[in-house]
Amino acid sequence: MANRWKNDLGDRDVTPEAVYMTRRQWMAGAAGLGLVGAGRAARAEVPEPNAWEDITSYNNYYEFGTDKGDPARHAHRLTVQPWTVRIDGLVDRPGAYDFADIMARMTIEERIYRFRCVEAWSMVVPWNGFELADLLDMAGVQAGAKYVAFETVLRPEEMPGVRYPVLDWPYVEGLRLDEARHPLTIMATGIYGRDIPNQNGAPLRLVVPWKYGFKSIKSVVRITLTEAEPATSWNKANPREYGFYSNVNPEVDHPRWSQATERRIGGGLFAGREPTLMFNGYADEVAGLYAGMDLKTYF
Ligand code: MTE
Repeated sequence: MANRWKNDLGDRDVTPEAVYMTRRQWMAGAAGLGLVGAGRAARAEVPEPNAWEDITSYNNYYEFGTDKGDPARHAHRLTVQPWTVRIDGLVDRPGAYDFADIMARMTIEERIYRFRCVEAWSMVVPWNGFELADLLDMAGVQAGAKYVAFETVLRPEEMPGVRYPVLDWPYVEGLRLDEARHPLTIMATGIYGRDIPNQNGAPLRLVVPWKYGFKSIKSVVRITLTEAEPATSWNKANPREYGFYSNVNPEVDHPRWSQATERRIGGGLFAGREPTLMFNGYADEVAGLYAGMDLKTYF
């Protein structure tokens, strides 16, 4: 691939692994001392970036339950081997691709993508993986394709959360083709130098560092190239609050909270809030994708 992205973050920027893996305890500890802004109470179904409920939790993977401790509790039940990814729609070589074959065919260079990410807090997480563009090239994208749709595995027998209609299962997400082909868009297979834990989306998840965390769909089993904009789970659930693009944007408030500031996890108990950066700090790389678009309309 010619268009490799240059990593500006180093090891010193990375959020310590122990902090990432134990966000719940970490933030709960800060909260217990009354040092975390109280925030408004979050509703259970919403991945609110700055809400109290989220910063005191571990993570979101609603197929395992909406309690933020549920993914860590239940995700070990997910069988991630063998794993097949169906690539279909407007591609030259549709098919069921075995994950092991994908891994053999992608050049997983000795490469670490240290990406800033924003959820309820900001962190820098070191991912291993490959560019989504390489996977798309493997399948051969046809000229008419304009979007990429993603789907998470749906296994009621392994996923206790899908008994509840909190979202319309399976979890789905989407990107415009140029976003999907951007070198910052990766399929992650590892984190902190090891395989991704199940609750974080094993064996293969999307990471789009200039978008809010919920775009990062986990445990992907299907990728479809489409002409029309695909549906996304959160947009279906609440179109007023979650748009298709979901770019990190301090100027566009969520209807129920401001997105202008964020809290850096691991920044120390006394670390305050920092201004949220446009496109999560990746404006130089990605702003061009949205030239001429009104990002208040296309939020
Ligand atoms: N993918 C699936 N399949 N199901 C989910 O519930 N939650 C999303 C996203 N991907 C989710 C998902 C949300 S709301 C967030 S914030 C991130 O995963 C959390 O990812 P993390 O485990 O890296 O914190």
